[in-house]
Amino acid sequence: GNITFTMIKPDAVADGNTGAILNRIEGAGFRIVAMKKTLLSKADAEKFYAIHRERPFFGELVEYMTSGPIVAAILEKENAVEDFRKLIGATDPAKAEEGTIRKMFAKSIAANAIHGSDSDENAQIEANFFFSVRERY
Ligand code: GTP
Ligand code: MG
Repeated sequence: GNITFTMIKPDAVADGNTGAILNRIEGAGFRIVAMKKTLLSKADAEKFYAIHRERPFFGELVEYMTSGPIVAAILEKENAVEDFRKLIGATDPAKAEEGTIRKMFAKSIAANAIHGSDSDENAQIEANFFFSVRERY
């Protein structure tokens, strides 16, 4: 597993934290393979988070993820998925460790600043959802 996929979520982009978060990511040894700023449609967000469609917060999650532009990226590093999940910290910023991206930038369990793939298989699926082969260097 040498790649993972991330999104800097609407709250963090709107707050002007994109640069600070990318700086932490590169500082932790991840290489940016592909990156774009984009606005998810409702259909995009529903498809991306389809695994959560039965959860009570699904409507809120889709509304939040479409509330403003996100920055999507493919990241490369040895052990990328696991190391990136460690770098971002727990889903709920109240439970995230000191020094993690969510501890520093997340506002709540819903507006939690950043996404990281949870498996090598999902990293490939999510990277393919956003980027063509010609967008990866
Ligand atoms: P991602 O990296 O974004 O996938 O987060 P995660 O893997 O740490 O958490 P999970 O996949 O379980 O949930 C996906 C996203 O749904 C979270 O990042 C939150 O934005 C949102 N979410 C999770 N739990 C709640 C909740 O209880 N309420 C609300 N409103 N949103 C939630
Ligand atoms: Mg997840």
